[in-house]
Amino acid sequence: MRAYDVILKKRNGGKLSKDEIEFMVNGYVKGDIPDYQMAAFLMAIYFKHMDGEERAILTETMANSGDKVGLSSIPGIKIDKHSTGGVGDKTTLVVGPIVASLGVPVAKMSGRALGHTGGTIDKLESIPGFRTTLSEEEFFKNVREIGIAVVGQTANLVPADKKIYALRDATATVDEVSLIAASIMSKKLAGGADGYVLDVKVGSGAFMKTIEDATELADAMVGIARAHGKRAVAVLTNMDVPLGKMVGNSLEVLEALETLKGNGPEDFTELCLNLSAWMCHLAGKGTFEECLKLAKESLDNGAALNKFRQFVEYQGGNPDVVERPYDVLPMTSNVTEFKTEMEGYITSIDTEKIGIASNHLGAGRKTKEDTIDYSVGIEIVSKVGDYVRPGDTIAKMYVSQKSEIEEAKELLKESYVISQEKPLERPIILKVVK
Ligand code: URA
Repeated sequence: MRAYDVILKKRNGGKLSKDEIEFMVNGYVKGDIPDYQMAAFLMAIYFKHMDGEERAILTETMANSGDKVGLSSIPGIKIDKHSTGGVGDKTTLVVGPIVASLGVPVAKMSGRALGHTGGTIDKLESIPGFRTTLSEEEFFKNVREIGIAVVGQTANLVPADKKIYALRDATATVDEVSLIAASIMSKKLAGGADGYVLDVKVGSGAFMKTIEDATELADAMVGIARAHGKRAVAVLTNMDVPLGKMVGNSLEVLEALETLKGNGPEDFTELCLNLSAWMCHLAGKGTFEECLKLAKESLDNGAALNKFRQFVEYQGGNPDVVERPYDVLPMTSNVTEFKTEMEGYITSIDTEKIGIASNHLGAGRKTKEDTIDYSVGIEIVSKVGDYVRPGDTIAKMYVSQKSEIEEAKELLKESYVISQEKPLERPIILKVVK
C-alpha cells in the first residue's frame, strides 16, 4: 500500500477501508509516513469527510495506538463524562461526587487547561496536597473503596492523537467533525468505561458556535460510541455565558463546594444534576427522571459533599477545604472591581474573551512549561439578562503581582455587550442527542 494512493482516494471522495485507515495512522505514529503526507491526508478528510464506519475505524485505530485502561476489575457499569471544553466548567468536581455517592463508580482521566478553556486537573491541584498522578494500584483501590478517583491522562494515552492533533493545529485541520470526534472518542475508548455522557458545549466560549455544528459533532460521537458497543448520550449545553460565576482554579473549587452545599448558581447546579442523572441512567440506576431525583437527594442530604471530602482525602488533598475553603485554598485578597459605564441589559458576554482575560491574570498557561497561579481569576457578578447602571460592578478580577490587569480589563470591556433590549433567556440545556 502507498500513502499516495490512500490520500488520492480520500481526495476524490472515496470511502476508506480499515486497512487503509490503519496503514495511515499506524504508519504516521511509527514515523514511516512523513508529516507532509499526513497533512495532505488530513486536508483530504477536511474537505471530503468520513462516514460513520470510517470514523469508528479511525477512532479505534487511534485508541489502540497506546496504553488502554482496563476497568473490568471494578464491579458495576462505569460511565465516563466528557466536556468538549468551556469557561468556568467545573462540573466534574460536583458530578463525580454526586454519581459516586449513588453507587456509580467514577474512574476518570481528566485534562488540563487548553487554550482559553480550563482543565479539571489544574482545578483539583489548587487544593493543597491533592495528587492527580496515582499509581495504578492506588487508582483502583480508591475506586473500589470510595467509588471515585480522578487522575491526569497517562503519557502514553493515544499517542496517535497527540501527534495528529499537533499536525492539525499547524495545518488548519482542527475543526472537522470526524477528526474532532475521533480525537475525543479515541481517548474515551482508551479510558475503558462502559458508556459516556458527552457534554457538548455550544456558543461563544465553545469550539462549536452553533447548535447545528454541535448536533453534528454530538451525532458523530454518539455514533462512534455505539459502533463500539458503548452506551452514550450527548447533552448540548449553553456556553454563550461562562458556566456559573467563577472562572479560575481556586475560585472554581470554591464554587463547586458551594454547589455541593446546595448554594451554587442555578445554571451550574441544573447542569450538574442533569449530567449526573444521565450518568446514573446509563449505569442502570433507573429512568432519567428517577435518577434526577436521586441526584437532587444526594445534594440535599449532604452525601455528595461527604463524598467530595473523602475523594480529596484519598488523593492526598487537605479535606478541611470543605469546611474552611478560604483558609485552605490559595486565595488572593487583591480584588479589582470592573465597573460598567453604560446603562441597559447585558445582552451577551463573549465567553472566550473571559477565558482569555482569566489567563492574562495568570489562571492558565502561556507555554506548556508555564506555572498556573491558582489564586487568580474572574467573578462574573452580572450575567446576561441583568439590568445594569453606570458605576455598577459587573465583574471582579482576583489578581496577583504578575497579573496583566490592563489586558484583562480591556477583554472584559470588549466581552460585555449592553443594550436597551432585554435578551431572550437561553436555557442551560439546549438539546439531548441519544
Ligand atoms: N478536544 C480534543 O480532544 N480533540 C479535538 O480535536 C478537539 C477538542
